[in-house]
Amino acid sequence: MEDYQKYKAYRGNVIYSKNKDTLISKENSYILVREGIVKGIFKELPNGFPKENIIDWGNKLIIPGFCDMHVHAPQFLQRGMGMDRELLDWLKTYTYPNESRFKNPNHAREVYSLFVDELLRQGTLHVNIFPSIHYEASEILFEILEQRGLFAFTGKLNMDQNSPEYYVEDTEKSLVDTEKFIQKHQKDGNVKVSIVPRFTITCSEKLLAGLGSLSEKYGVPVHSHMCEAVNTIKVSQELFPDYKNEAEIFYQNNLLGQRPTIMAHCIFMDDEVLKLMKNPNCMAVHCPDATANINAGGIMPVKKLLEMGINLAIGSDIGSGANLSIARGIASTIQHSKIRNMFDSQWDAVTLPEAFYMATRSGGRYFKNVGAFEEGYCFNALVIDDSNMPGEGYTLVERLERFCYLGDDRNIAMRYILEKEILV
Ligand code: GUN
Ligand code: FE
Repeated sequence: MEDYQKYKAYRGNVIYSKNKDTLISKENSYILVREGIVKGIFKELPNGFPKENIIDWGNKLIIPGFCDMHVHAPQFLQRGMGMDRELLDWLKTYTYPNESRFKNPNHAREVYSLFVDELLRQGTLHVNIFPSIHYEASEILFEILEQRGLFAFTGKLNMDQNSPEYYVEDTEKSLVDTEKFIQKHQKDGNVKVSIVPRFTITCSEKLLAGLGSLSEKYGVPVHSHMCEAVNTIKVSQELFPDYKNEAEIFYQNNLLGQRPTIMAHCIFMDDEVLKLMKNPNCMAVHCPDATANINAGGIMPVKKLLEMGINLAIGSDIGSGANLSIARGIASTIQHSKIRNMFDSQWDAVTLPEAFYMATRSGGRYFKNVGAFEEGYCFNALVIDDSNMPGEGYTLVERLERFCYLGDDRNIAMRYILEKEILV
């Protein structure tokens, strides 16, 4: 007989993705959890299960915590500004001056604390973060993420060319600092290090090759932007005439698919790029709000990539995205797919199960065993109180959809990471 004292049972209306097409929804069920890990979902509890170990959330929804797979921590204060600009103009006018302020560790600590609090408030429990170029600020971000308990990847940003003189690195120093950062964070934990070249335009071939060697030497994942905008692709081609496309620049320099690789945007991908991205190690991140705000010139063909079996997730991409809510990212993903469909009817609109899958289980594969409630998964969960959205006879999935479209952080009644209550 099992020792049920070690178990907790979370009761509510449970929803999670089985795969991209299927949502599992179970009314009035118990998620059985032992030491932070899901054991299973049950309609009834076994005889003798201790009543004091039941946490009853009544009619609320219990869903996996969200994954924000591309977000810029140092852009937290610039959200909602310059949204009428083109990408390169926006970087020069708003972003580089703002990010350069993270040279000051006090500023970094203050802003990164607010940023991480807001992530949690919005229900993001798993996150893949772009930092600034500053070593000390990147350490501070790492430390705050560890303190708050999120599952995260972050590193030290690299850029050594085509950047303003007040926000650029010496190539050698960039590599030395990156290696130091990696070495310091080799230990196991929920926050892990990644290698973060900004994008091809701001990185010399020497820097990219050096980062590729570090990724190989230490087995470190890679996070960058790729195939984002008509303008950036053009500039990249001028800077790297010997390469066929941006994916090849990363690939030839050991930064695409050799280790886990996350590429934000991936809007303009021809067949050769798609072939490189169709690799279990690679994940493309759809950032719909960012795309709309800074005018990339296109919309990611999400349905096509889903049908091709390319790993996909959702990113808030603040500050080109303005909002940290991944629930909003789900709605936005569906909306953008419909707009795209008006111009290219070859691909259907994205469905709610597909978008929810991208935001939870699919993004979650990067962290292992997060984003669903199957046996062995981490109990990283949100409790959703939708009692302020009147309506009768709705299914659980319809209620989930309404939360994504109408809800906000006030509807999140509780956040759990490995079963621990996260207070915001
Ligand atoms: N490409 C290079 N840097 C950035 C950035 O900060 N935001 C976005 N959206 N694209 C980029
Ligand atoms: Fe970005």
